[in-house]
Amino acid sequence: MTKKKIAVLPGDGIGPEVVKQGVSLLDSLSEALDMTFEFSEYLIGGACLNAHAVPVQDSTISACRQADAVLLGAVGSPEFDNNPPHLRPEKALLGMRAALGVYCNLRPAKLYQSLASASPLKPEIVAGIDMLVVRELTGGIYFGEPAGIASENGEDVGRNTMIYSEGEIRRIAHQAFQFAQKRRGHVTSVDKANVLSVSQLWRKVLTDVASEYPDVTLSHMLVDNCAMQLVRNPAQFDVVVTGNLFGDILSDEASVLTGSIGMLPSASLGDGAPLYEPVHGSAPDIAGTGKANPLAMMASIAMLVQYTFGRTDIAAAIEEAIEAVLEAGYHTADLQVQDGTLIGTEEMGRLVIDKVAEMLAVGAGV
Ligand code: IPM
Ligand code: MG
Repeated sequence: MTKKKIAVLPGDGIGPEVVKQGVSLLDSLSEALDMTFEFSEYLIGGACLNAHAVPVQDSTISACRQADAVLLGAVGSPEFDNNPPHLRPEKALLGMRAALGVYCNLRPAKLYQSLASASPLKPEIVAGIDMLVVRELTGGIYFGEPAGIASENGEDVGRNTMIYSEGEIRRIAHQAFQFAQKRRGHVTSVDKANVLSVSQLWRKVLTDVASEYPDVTLSHMLVDNCAMQLVRNPAQFDVVVTGNLFGDILSDEASVLTGSIGMLPSASLGDGAPLYEPVHGSAPDIAGTGKANPLAMMASIAMLVQYTFGRTDIAAAIEEAIEAVLEAGYHTADLQVQDGTLIGTEEMGRLVIDKVAEMLAVGAGV
């Protein structure tokens, strides 16, 4: 069996609770994957600020760079809301993404049929939602310089810079087209080209890269229109590719259409160690209550198994197990399902792990 190093960053709020389920799931797959796992845990975010007065330690970043994959729960806590940007929990996540060079963030939003009634939109509108948001993750206004608050002409001025180089746009465009080739063959590129120069360049480069993928169709959409189309006709989208800020906003919107932000997994890929995390964040209001939905974390493990270990079969088993458990009526509190059985984090984790084991045993002919 090959040994894989997994860096585990539970973080804040519900992070540790959901990460625990993700780790258990991955560990349970050891035999099926023919791998053993060495899990090493590190502090990040508010947890690290409290212990070491920094949002993440350099030694943690180095350890993550050496890992085969990084699992992250969530960062963020209201306790640090008034801290300057470099001493906020979120800074750790941004620093980690930059240090790992994970520029390609995949956020798949798919409707599980049993959750159609949990969506805030009408069932006929959400039917058939199956999209992949490809968010550029290490550039744009999140990282552009100059940035900061400075005193100018007797008053404070806040400034950020939205900047993309042609190379940064080109590499994320290639990713989007390649994912579309494996899906339904359509890319929607989202920008604000009617106003922003950075978007005009984005559009030009996307159009140029599209010529290398004749089997994929490309359309451009302005971000305001996209926000509207997501609630009007979300099933029209296959792959949506966009910059860091627009991707942050639109992926939250896309996720809730599928029933709950507690369902959306993510993978962040680049040239170094890949990072897997649920999209939902730390949810401090329910932290420690055992109510958190671990499914986004568990679906992030499916992405890990698929993208880092190349085991599409096992990734599919995890997704089918999640679907089966939901179909059996089990749901966490965030999923506004009428009937069925309300359960907590631990029970949900256990049910999915058992179901995956059952599916793999059947698949193996046992
Ligand atoms: C996300 C989050 C982060 C982001 C925050 C916590 C920095 O909202 O992953 O979507 O804005 O990227
Ligand atoms: Mg976000």
